[in-house]
Amino acid sequence: MPDALAAVREWAGQPVTETPIKGGLSHRIARVDAADGRRWLLRVLDPRVSAAGLGIPLDQEIANTLRAAEAGIGPRVLHRMPGALLLEYLEGTTLDAHAVRALPGPVAAACRRLHAGPRFVNDFSIFRKLEEFLALCRAHGLRTPAGYEDRLPAVAEIERALEADPLPSAPCHNDLLPENFIRCGDEVRIVDYQLSGNNDPAFELGDIAAEADYHPDLTCQLARAYFGEDSPRLAARVRLNLIMSNLTWTLWFSVHHGLLREQAAAAGFDYDAEAADKFAQAVRDLEDPGFGRLIDDVRGLRPGFPTPRTTQGGLSDQAKPAGRGRQAPG
Ligand SMILES: Nc1ncnc2c1ncn2[C@@H]1O[C@H](COP(=O)(O)OP(=O)(O)O)[C@@H](O)[C@H]1O
Ligand SMILES: [Mg+2]
Repeated sequence: MPDALAAVREWAGQPVTETPIKGGLSHRIARVDAADGRRWLLRVLDPRVSAAGLGIPLDQEIANTLRAAEAGIGPRVLHRMPGALLLEYLEGTTLDAHAVRALPGPVAAACRRLHAGPRFVNDFSIFRKLEEFLALCRAHGLRTPAGYEDRLPAVAEIERALEADPLPSAPCHNDLLPENFIRCGDEVRIVDYQLSGNNDPAFELGDIAAEADYHPDLTCQLARAYFGEDSPRLAARVRLNLIMSNLTWTLWFSVHHGLLREQAAAAGFDYDAEAADKFAQAVRDLEDPGFGRLIDDVRGLRPGFPTPRTTQGGLSDQAKPAGRGRQAPG
């Protein structure tokens, strides 16, 4: 949208320059510097992303961005233009997977702040998202990793277990790739509300753990930091959601690759490799004997709730391959 910059110039009443930021695979993101030294972040939303189901409707994303700003965790919204937002530029460091692994405490605190804020305008379920993506893949004949559909009974089992004793939903980001966290001094802020919606907070944590390649012990530490208690039941809930993150976002790549071909070609990104990587991580966790224990723990079926067996083989002992996230290379 070439007009967005002109609209910013008009709003600012002075010349502005745009410096593109190479970020995610979805929208046009740029730093904008005004002649007087002020700086903003321009986010021009690509309607094809939400049309393909890869993001929530743009009006919802904008409304939720405003609410996250109200919670003090998202950047302030300075100016709204048709299909674009001018945001507070957060002077800080964008996190990478290594940093997210090193900072479970501040990351949990950032989530708590978001979740304690105003509710979002829409609800979000990772199970419905998976179904939606799968329907798109079937309708358009899109390539999915071999054996994907064989895992659907396990998805149903996870959903039944989580629904047996659900947590109250909270305004969740739902896509906390490391690159959506910005560290500003002692606090961590959160950007990019493309998939936001009220959801099980345990998905937020499981998704963070999946995207930053958390070891199971670190996943339990994140759960403890967030919930403020050492609960095997809650930790297991987060770990089942980690599996759902890998399974569902596998299809994000299939859909993005298949339906946004032009964008995908320009990104120079190996979508199949990314989908295969996420799916392999999900399969590894589903086939591990520890999977049944997670289901039992979430349902409260293991008497006395002993400490989760995160260091006794199974899920915990396997080194995780490095994930690349839904980010453009370089
Ligand atoms: N408000 C902001 N202030 C500073 N940097 C930002 C801001 N928003 C985004 N960024 C930077 O731009 C990158 C991409 O932005 P993001 O909103 O996540 O776009 P995408 O939807 O393409 O992932 C982020 O990873 C971060 O480095
Ligand atoms: Mg992003």
